[in-house]
Amino acid sequence: MNLEGRVALITGGAGGIGLAVARRFTAAGASVALADLRQDAAVAAAADFVAHGFRAIGLAGDVSQPEVARALVADTLSAFGRIDILVNNAGFMGRTAPIWELEDKDWHDVLNVDLSSVFYLSREVIPHMRSRRSGCIISISSVAGKEGTPGLIPYSVAKAGIIALTKALGKEVILEGIRVNCVAPGVVTTPLLDQLPPEAVKLMLSKAPMGRFGTAEEVAAVVHFLASDDASFITAQCVDASGGRATY
Ligand SMILES: NC(=O)c1ccc[n+]([C@@H]2O[C@H](COP(=O)([O-])OP(=O)(O)OC[C@H]3O[C@@H](n4cnc5c(N)ncnc54)[C@H](O)[C@@H]3O)[C@@H](O)[C@H]2O)c1
Repeated sequence: MNLEGRVALITGGAGGIGLAVARRFTAAGASVALADLRQDAAVAAAADFVAHGFRAIGLAGDVSQPEVARALVADTLSAFGRIDILVNNAGFMGRTAPIWELEDKDWHDVLNVDLSSVFYLSREVIPHMRSRRSGCIISISSVAGKEGTPGLIPYSVAKAGIIALTKALGKEVILEGIRVNCVAPGVVTTPLLDQLPPEAVKLMLSKAPMGRFGTAEEVAAVVHFLASDDASFITAQCVDASGGRATY
C-alpha cells in the first residue's frame, strides 16, 4: 500500500480519524495537506509531520463554504503540484434532539458541513484528476447513514447522502481513472463523541457487537487501503468499518 509521491488533501485533518489517516498516508510516503476549521491545530499537526521528515502543510477553512473548497484545492496544488487523493473527513454530529425540537439552523449546519462539503470539494478536485486521468476520493460516512440514528436526523441524512454521492460520482468518473469510495464507521473513540450526551454514548456501547468502540487507526487503515493501488478494482462502494454493527 505504498503511496510514495502521492499527494493527499484531508479535511478535518487536525484530529481524530483525519489525523490518523494522515499518519498512515505519510508513513506510506504521501505528502499531506491537513485542512481544518481549527487553524492552530492543523498548522501544529503539519509542523509535527515536517519535524519528523514528512511533507505536510496545514490549511485553515470551513469546508461548508464553496469558496473555501476552491481555496483548499488551489493551495494544495500550489504547495505540492498535484492532488492524488481527497479524503472528505471533516464533520460533526450536531445537536442530539428529536425532530420536533430541531431548528432550521440545526438541519442546515449539519447538512452543509457534513454533506455539501463533500460535493464542493469533489467538484473542485475532479477536473484536476480528470486532466491527469488519475485520482481517488474517499469520504467518511457513518453507520448512522445506513441505519438512521434517532436523535441525529440531520447527521443520519448527511451521512446517507455521502453514500449516494459516492455511488453516483463513482459511476460518473469510472472511465476516467478516478475511484470514489466511502467508509461507514461504527462508533469510534475520538473527540467527536464529546458532542453526545453520556447516556447516548452508553447506549451506543451496548449496541456494539464487539463490546467496544473502534479506533481512529482502524478506520484509517481502511481509508489507506482504499487510497492505495491495492484497491484498484474497488469504486462506487461504501465499505463498512463498524465492528459488525451493520452487516450490509
Ligand atoms: N467518531 C465516530 O464515532 C464516527 C463514526 C462514524 C463517522 N465518523 C465521521 O468521521 C469523521 C471524522 O470524525 P472524528 O470522529 O475524527 O471527529 P473529530 O471531531 O475528532 O474530528 C473532526 C475534525 O473535523 C474538523 N471540522 C469540523 N467541522 C469542520 C468544518 N466545517 N470545516 C473544516 N473542518 C471541520 C474538526 O475541527 C475536527 O478536527 C466525521 O465526518 C464523522 O462524522 C465518526
